[in-house]
Amino acid sequence: MASVDWESLTAAAVDVMHHAYAPYSRFKVGAAALVDDGRIVTGCNVENAAYGVVLCAECGVVSALHASGGGRLIALACVDQQGAPLMPCGRCRQVLYEAGGPTLELQTPEGVRTMRELLPQAFGPWDLTSRGGIEPQFDIGADPTA
Ligand code: THU
Repeated sequence: MASVDWESLTAAAVDVMHHAYAPYSRFKVGAAALVDDGRIVTGCNVENAAYGVVLCAECGVVSALHASGGGRLIALACVDQQGAPLMPCGRCRQVLYEAGGPTLELQTPEGVRTMRELLPQAFGPWDLTSRGGIEPQFDIGADPTA
């Protein structure tokens, strides 16, 4: 597995932050993540005149992950317009949990934390399989929380 170069990830997040479309909040966000095959995927926030349909930077990352071949997220840096680490919002933590699971590492203002720490007792894909729900048509491995 590739090791995490937080400096490069942060630099990629800062780069893409400059492409954010945030005319309403004027709060630009960039995010960059390391995928389990070594590639880096990025995203920025994209706002809308219908304020509620804003796309967060992390959603862009997950879209880029699948658009560029899929895989699992290993580590993610999210930054504000000063380039400082930004905590992913609650909805984004859920979106990222699906793409990286509890071991996904995130850079926070307090240092690197795992998704297990940032979204404790998360609801995830394994809850569906273990509770008699529909068997998802993908293989993301065994339940790491079991
Ligand atoms: N935003 C993100 O892109 N990610 C987050 O995790 C927090 C918030 C964006 C959404 C909106 O465009 C702006 O930041 C202000 O909330």
